[in-house]
Amino acid sequence: MMNTVYYLPKDNNYIEVPQSIYVRTLSTQLQSGFYLTYIDQKLTLCHTSSKLTLCVDFANVEIQNRIKTNAAKLDLVKAVEGKRKTQLSILDMTAGLGQDSFCLASRGHHITAIEQNPYVFLLVNDGLIRAQQDIKLQDSASRIRLYFANAINFATLDLSHQAYDVIYLDPMFPERLKSAKVKKNMQLLHQLVGIDEQNNDALFLFAQSFFAKKIVVKRPRLGEFLVGKRPTSQLIAKSSRFDIYASHTT
Ligand SMILES: C[S@@+](CC[C@H](N)C(=O)[O-])C[C@H]1O[C@@H](n2cnc3c(N)ncnc32)[C@H](O)[C@@H]1O
Repeated sequence: MMNTVYYLPKDNNYIEVPQSIYVRTLSTQLQSGFYLTYIDQKLTLCHTSSKLTLCVDFANVEIQNRIKTNAAKLDLVKAVEGKRKTQLSILDMTAGLGQDSFCLASRGHHITAIEQNPYVFLLVNDGLIRAQQDIKLQDSASRIRLYFANAINFATLDLSHQAYDVIYLDPMFPERLKSAKVKKNMQLLHQLVGIDEQNNDALFLFAQSFFAKKIVVKRPRLGEFLVGKRPTSQLIAKSSRFDIYASHTT
């Protein structure tokens, strides 16, 4: 890792930053056993006591199938777009591995994606840098601006907030931890990030006070509403659902 060059997104461009900045960032939040390394030229999350690994690759078959096999029919897309046919400006307050952001970007929407975990941020950042070099992915990748921040802090300081059409929240699900369906490598993400229902409620309350046009929240199918608030409408899938809070017709 010693000679690695890192990039931070700034004003729609990536700027090179010294490794020391990243190391400092990571060392303030080091989580025991987790480390990042390159495997097959992809930045990869590993754990000292596990064989599982996790990287972000927007070219992978699963993501590409999801996008290509009629993305318009995906519940995520239906929930976010509603009847709108125009390009949307979306604030994804819980970027995670960037899959939902990338899917929405592939529909032509512009995404501001915020991730607060430094490891996860670096994985997505690395995935986006590779996607920007791939002719098939670069359009979608260029529509995502990724920031390393707590989304509430970011949105408080982001003066352009009035411009967002939709706020999207996909906080960690408690059920996912226990579910046999959780993909093996995703278990690493769950171990790394954990679940914080108070943070989830705080994100929702903030989204409501900050911007009331439309909020879409992904929840476990049988999960409680965030802060107990009943949505305007819902899309219910097999294991998850989308709660839609809209105050205007969108
Ligand atoms: C379930 S994952 C999101 C998955 C994502 N939708 C995707 O498609 O890959 C939730 C992510 O939200 C992040 N997160 C939780 N609270 C946050 C906050 N207040 N600000 C920024 N990121 C947050 C967590 O670190 C985690 O990576």
